[in-house]
Amino acid sequence: MSALLPPVPADGNIPLHLAIIMDGNGRWAQRRRRPRIIGHRAGARTVNLVVDFCLEKGIRTLSLFAFSSENWGRPQDEVSALMKLFMNALEREVDELHRRGVRLRFIGDRTRFPDAIRERMAAAEAMTAADTRLNLVIAASYGGRQDIVQAARSLAVDIQAGRLRPEDIDESALASRIALSDLPLPDLFIRTGGEYRISNFMLWQLAYTELWFTDALWPEVDNAVLQQALDDYAQRERRFGLTSAQILEKPA
Ligand code: FPP
Repeated sequence: MSALLPPVPADGNIPLHLAIIMDGNGRWAQRRRRPRIIGHRAGARTVNLVVDFCLEKGIRTLSLFAFSSENWGRPQDEVSALMKLFMNALEREVDELHRRGVRLRFIGDRTRFPDAIRERMAAAEAMTAADTRLNLVIAASYGGRQDIVQAARSLAVDIQAGRLRPEDIDESALASRIALSDLPLPDLFIRTGGEYRISNFMLWQLAYTELWFTDALWPEVDNAVLQQALDDYAQRERRFGLTSAQILEKPA
């Protein structure tokens, strides 16, 4: 099977790569008549719960959409509060993640973050670079279209420099320059908060990913919700554009 398609996981049931849009923090807080940032704080606790769940289930990569390129346009006090929350999480959680074998990676335009956060991101990536139990990918200041644009630009640079010919550009060439090209593509995508959108998250990478949506707001997510998603995923037949019969006759 081509490297452009997600590999079928060894036991066929557990996704190797889970990608999540963590939606609903603001509404969770508003329903309690609390400021939105209280919802984001509760959401940060759910991040820990999901990491535990992935470690327990043997999921190898967890990608979380923490902050989109569009989220910079939110009210200034919410953006500042989120920056503070990211900084605190980087200060408090990284040692423990490292101890548990979690490798941290950040995707997105980090030039837009304050220096202190960028330094912490780089330090967290360096500290956990050799950890192999779980890849924890945080998409921050990330946009899927921008990801494709930077890949296209990098191909153009190589063509201009004479390292590549236009006829060498195929899906694999582009895929190799998209974020996380060294990791298996997402098998399962979850969005919480009752919205049925991909919202510019990993547009290229999600082409053949199974999609699962829940009305649960992100701070409400618990192991039972995650298990529901996994159970549903285990029932799906992934055909990658082929027929059911072709998939069934494919050698293991
Ligand atoms: C979407 O909910 C959530 C965000 C824009 C921020 C996500 C941040 C966290 C879960 C907290 C910390 C994360 C890390 C990685 C430490 P929303 O605000 O759009 O909710 P709404 O749709 O109810 O308004």
